[in-house]
Amino acid sequence: MSDRRDFIKKAALSTIGISTAYVSANATTKGNITLLSNPLKDVKKPIIISTWNHGLPANEETWKQLKKGKPVLDAIESGMKIPEADPKIRSVGYGGFPDRDGNVTLDACIMDHNSDCGSVSFLQGIKHPISVAKKVLEETPHVMLTGEGALQFAKSQGFKEENLLTPESKKDWEKWLEESKYAPVINIENHDTISMLVLDESGNISGACTTSGAAWKMHGRVGDSPIIGAGLFLDNEVGGAAATGLGEAVIRTAGSAMVVELMRQGKSPFDACKEIVERIYKKHQNHKDMPYLQVGFIAVNKKGEYAGYSLRSGFNYAIYDNEKGNRMEDAKFKMEWK
Ligand code: GLY
Repeated sequence: MSDRRDFIKKAALSTIGISTAYVSANATTKGNITLLSNPLKDVKKPIIISTWNHGLPANEETWKQLKKGKPVLDAIESGMKIPEADPKIRSVGYGGFPDRDGNVTLDACIMDHNSDCGSVSFLQGIKHPISVAKKVLEETPHVMLTGEGALQFAKSQGFKEENLLTPESKKDWEKWLEESKYAPVINIENHDTISMLVLDESGNISGACTTSGAAWKMHGRVGDSPIIGAGLFLDNEVGGAAATGLGEAVIRTAGSAMVVELMRQGKSPFDACKEIVERIYKKHQNHKDMPYLQVGFIAVNKKGEYAGYSLRSGFNYAIYDNEKGNRMEDAKFKMEWK
């Protein structure tokens, strides 16, 4: 296309609020005519928002699957499987840090716009807990399966049992054993749960979480991530929210459910996340967990407004939309790490 025609097209589209990134993703050009494959009302959707740097490749895969026309939960599952399978990501799935006895134990959940959900907790030996959580939603009358029962169910569904403790994680665990001091480190290098929220092209909200949980936890410990209302919550009339950080603090405050309830009362995603982080701070400022406490939330509402907010500095999230593509944003926070 000539520079002049390109300039006129960009100018015309920008006056009606459509970016060139959106056009290249959604348009075909025939002669002088640009055809948008999505109607204008869908300009902002889909929107995918995921916690931490590992959200970027997860968003990429989920977006790809949505654009192929895959059902949204399938697309979310495919995205979450990327960090689950990556041994370099030490807080999710294969290669995750083990508990203090050297066992990798995994938590995950998934929820759709009808409020149907599936979850697994304290699952061992299965690389993709998100896929087992989805099977719980699809194939059982229950919401959550745990431990040995979750493993038996996974095997009955054809999942292969395998060793998830990589040599690197084993080495780190052996080093940790020298002092055996429990103080989870949750920051940008050593991040935590991947939580994902999707506002799809029909305007419906879905989400998921998956994690290996806090490093060096007690055997049997379950965090917030598989708990609907704590690590993840959504109400398709309002919006969705998901958490990262120290699960105990998120469970104590029913974090994600509260963010959604504040949005229902009219708060923006940013104000809702901030208010819950303030509440968590108030309840924990004199708590034994405070020295290492980090929590962060992401939220999106039905209008496509989104935000992230954390207690301490260093939380970021990946956001993918038509307007600006897939990128990282730093969350605002209450306080710097001391
Ligand atoms: N947020 C993950 C966990 O505490 O297990």
